[in-house]
This record gives sequence, structure tokens and C-alpha cells, in this order.
Amino acid sequence: MIKNIKIIGYGSCTPSNVVTNHDLSEIIDTTDEWISKRTGIKERRISKGESTSSLAIAAAKKALNVAGITAAELDLIIVATSTPDCFFPSTGCIVQSEIGAINATSFDLAGACTGFVYATDVAIQYLKTGRFKRALVIGAEVMSKIIDWNDRGTAILFGDGAGAIVITTTDEKKITEVYTKSDGTKSEVLKLPAVPIIDMYDNVKVIDRSIMTMNGQEVFKFACNVIIETIDELISKSNIKLEDVDYIVLHQANSRIIEYVSNKVNINIEKFFMNLDKYGNTSAASIPIALDEMYGKNMLKSGQKLMLIGFGGGLTWGGILLEL
Ligand code: ACO
Repeated sequence: MIKNIKIIGYGSCTPSNVVTNHDLSEIIDTTDEWISKRTGIKERRISKGESTSSLAIAAAKKALNVAGITAAELDLIIVATSTPDCFFPSTGCIVQSEIGAINATSFDLAGACTGFVYATDVAIQYLKTGRFKRALVIGAEVMSKIIDWNDRGTAILFGDGAGAIVITTTDEKKITEVYTKSDGTKSEVLKLPAVPIIDMYDNVKVIDRSIMTMNGQEVFKFACNVIIETIDELISKSNIKLEDVDYIVLHQANSRIIEYVSNKVNINIEKFFMNLDKYGNTSAASIPIALDEMYGKNMLKSGQKLMLIGFGGGLTWGGILLEL
């Protein structure tokens, strides 16, 4: 029983606190010029009290409002996050409770910056089999709580926020292709240990805060390669040409990665939506925040084809080609 899939709602929420590159240069040895030139980022939103779940709840409410359905009509809630408030209850269950999604199955998924693509894929598979009809997929992060503010190579990159979509089955014929991969042998390139780490027999190591580490240059090369791989795989699975895709929404990590890909696949940079200048890298939240911004700008129309591509810790990567 293969069903067609359609996005019917978009929402996002970011903290109101804006931290510019200039603000960062007052606490870190960096400059606006360095950050802008190397990353394209000008500012990011940093939580002042907002939690991953509070951002996720606000994004979810907006997406439901756009979809025009009630929370009780949801069968499934998946929250992609690496920065949950708690391991349990999951952020999904916290969102479920707050919005009143009394009929939903809810859980979190940890796929780092690929989390939203993985979560949307899981939701699509549930919908395609007919098991569920309506799903809320959220990417939500408070990256600021796992950043090493003494490491200028990573601290300047990240921001906080949440984005959400509502997807449903439809009788209309729609393209949906998915490609996902991971490579656990490269786990050291991007790492966020769980805390506290306690070995109760020998080397007791307790750290009070989980800190992300990253080999930036390795991630950069990896990202460029796997984005091209994902574009090629999605196009070869579908009956369309890359030129027929209306927008390619890449995980918002670095404008230089996006420019590299645009040149390599020979597709105008205008087709690659970018808002990382305002939000930095919000990990699993970056793609749904971008989608909500595109929706708000009236850029999304029925029949358009979108490619969503994520990459990140694990290492993980993947993409979804879908028709609006
Ligand atoms: N301000 C000023 N100077 C800096 C800063 C900074 N914030 N950070 C590093 N530098 C310096 C370095 O110390 C180095 O100085 P040196 O030449 O005197 O040794 C110089 O700038 C160059 O440093 P590189 O690390 O080589 O800079 P690079 O051009 O590689 O840019 C960056 C670093 C921006 C991190 C880049 O590698 C990148 O964007 N990588 C991808 C990261 C990414 O996308 N991560 C997200 C992954 S998704 C996930 O799952 C979390």
C-alpha cells in the first residue's frame, strides 16, 4: 500500500536574542571579517532561557496552524535533536503533551545535523505503508549549551532554533525519493559525548558539561563530497533532471560549502536557499527553519520540486527529493 506524501504545514521559532559576529569578537579572539569570509555567517540566535522543547513546541504550533489540522489529528511526532532537555521524557513526548496530540506516537531521533532528513524519512516510510496518516517532524536544538566557547573554530558557527513540518498522505501523485547513509568509522570528526561519563570500576571521569568537538577541515571536505553524492543518487532514482528541481535546501553550515556545490553541479546559486547569515548552523533545525522562511516569503508553490540535504556527525548524510 504505497501512498503519496505531501507537506501541508511549516513553522519555526528562534530565540529573540541576536548575537552578531561583532558581539562574539568581544568575548572570543575573532573578527566579523574572518567569520563572514570563511562561513557567510553574520549573526545567530542564542537562547536566553528558551529550551529545545519550548522552541520545538512553538514551531509545532505554527506548523499545525498552517496545516489547518488539530494536534489530535496527528498520528506521529518525531523530534530530531542532539540537544534534548532530557533523555526521557523525549522532546517528542514533551511536545505531544504541550500541544495535546493525544493520539500520536512520539519519540526523538539523534542524527546530528542530518537528523531532520533522517526523521522526515522515517515519517515518510510510516506514511507510505499506511500505518500513519499525519506526522509532525521537528528539528530543534539549543546548540549554545554544548559549544566550547573557548574554541573559536567551532563557537562562531552555531545557533539555536527549531523548525517543523506537517506531512500527510495524499491521493495526488507526488515524487518522493530518499537517499540516506552513515559512516560510523569517522565518528571522531564530530563528537558530542553524553555526560556524565562514569566508569564505576577504574577511571572515574566525570565532566559537568557535554562539549562538542569538531575537525572543521575534515567536515568541510566530507560535506562537499556527500552533498554531490546525495544529489546524484536522488536524481538517478527519479525521472527528473537536476535542472527541474526548483530549490535545493542544504543544511545551513557554511556558505562556502553551498557555493562549492553550486559550482560543481553547475546549478545557479539562486536555487540554493540560504539563511545561515542570520541563524548560523542550527544543526537538525536548519532545514525546517529554512523551509518555514521560504514558505513565509511565498516561495513555495504546489507542484514545485525540492531537494533537502543534510550532513553531520556520525558521520551521517542523506537527502529527500519531494514534490510540493
Ligand atoms: N576567528 C579568527 N581566526 C580563526 C577562527 C576564528 N573564529 N577560527 C580559526 N581561526 C584561525 C585558525 O587558528 C587558523 O590560524 P593559523 O593559520 O594561524 O593556524 C586559521 O584561522 C585557519 O583556520 P582553519 O581551521 O584552517 O580555517 P578554515 O578555513 O578551515 O575554516 C571552518 C574553519 C569555518 C570551521 C571550516 O573548516 C568549516 O566551515 N568547516 C565545516 C564545519 C561544519 O560545517 N560543521 C558543521 C557540521 S554539522 C554537525 O553535525 C554539527
